[in-house]
Amino acid sequence: MGKTTILGGIIKIHPKKAVNQSGVTYMEDIIYLDNAATAWPKPEKVYSFMIDFYKKLGVNPGRSGYDKAIEAGNIIEDLRKRLTKFFGGDEDAPERLCFGYNATDALNLIIQGLLSAGDHIVTTNVEHNSVIRPVNHLVRDGGVEATYVPFDKQGFVDPDDIKKAIKPNTKLVIVNHGSNVIGTVQPIKEIGAVCKEMGIIFAIDSSQTAGVIPINMKEMNIDVLAFTGHKALMGSMGIGGMYVRKGVEIRQQRSGGTGVRSAYPYQLEEYPWRMEFGTPNLMGIAALWAGQDWLDENGIENIHKKEIRLAQRLLDGFRNIEGVKTYCADSLENHLSTLTINIEGIDAGNVGIMLDVDFNIATRTGLHCAPLVHKQIGTFDIHGGVRFSIGPFNTEEHIDTAIEAVQDIAKRAPTIAKQSR
Ligand code: ALA
Repeated sequence: MGKTTILGGIIKIHPKKAVNQSGVTYMEDIIYLDNAATAWPKPEKVYSFMIDFYKKLGVNPGRSGYDKAIEAGNIIEDLRKRLTKFFGGDEDAPERLCFGYNATDALNLIIQGLLSAGDHIVTTNVEHNSVIRPVNHLVRDGGVEATYVPFDKQGFVDPDDIKKAIKPNTKLVIVNHGSNVIGTVQPIKEIGAVCKEMGIIFAIDSSQTAGVIPINMKEMNIDVLAFTGHKALMGSMGIGGMYVRKGVEIRQQRSGGTGVRSAYPYQLEEYPWRMEFGTPNLMGIAALWAGQDWLDENGIENIHKKEIRLAQRLLDGFRNIEGVKTYCADSLENHLSTLTINIEGIDAGNVGIMLDVDFNIATRTGLHCAPLVHKQIGTFDIHGGVRFSIGPFNTEEHIDTAIEAVQDIAKRAPTIAKQSR
């Protein structure tokens, strides 16, 4: 039995349907607890603004002199200013806010554009593959050295351990601000202070924190920040970028059209063109612009408070279930609303399938593109964990349903484990 999907395929019918969510006008067909993968749904105004904008002004910005092209270009420049302020960048240098596809794209440009053969990078076990893989490629193929600093039992990186890992040839320190697996938020300001004292460039991956945790690059001693638009910033997929503080120059690795000074035979040295190539993702920029409006209206502290209240409810529920193991969640202080668990006796992937098929709950299972986190918490060899990540449109009812579902699966676990032996 099934129903026709939006693209004409057939999917299974789930038992729970049509729950209203605060602030959105459509009906949902799943309990979505995969907001660390992407925030969904987006605020209604993001959908309507991006479509309206693209319909009215979807011409190539910054290339031509007619009114619509100028107006389309204006939203980009306006968003540069808004995001520069939002991230606490250098307000007299909004041009250093450069757009790209996503955080992975920005991190590749940052890592490859700052490191050369003979350089050393310090990073951590809390990183996502968006850092691990570009770094490992440079280690394998580019004569770069890397040190991965572990986190402590609670999931936090000690700034002193970063300091100890720094060597005379250390050029860059990169830290994931918030873990997409264990949800811990790192002491960025203190790590930044170490880097500042030692004269080393400090970059952060803000994929999981931008939009829920206040960031001020100046106050937190951050030199370079990579962001993605489709998570808590409430934009769309395909838009992200970086802010590069004054005094840091990233080597160019790509080149192409910029819309200005077309006779010049090389990529322009000035920001943003130094780090932007070809026609931009205007629709994504419009979505991100509307996302900023929504964040201004709701306040990121309020959003975070609500999400943490729900995460605490989920955690308290999990703690009362026999056979459930949580990771790095003794306290939700300095934490995102992301929790990873395992149920004794059942593979994480199977728990995810049961949550989906039996309870209509969307989670992400496995290694979450963060293999070093799983190695350190001991779940790498047991196929990772089951991640629940809460967003601004989740409700207490969603959380209680998730707790009941995990309770039910945990109760059945011994029988399932016996059957699969
Ligand atoms: N990095 C995203 C996640 O953790 C996709 O799920």
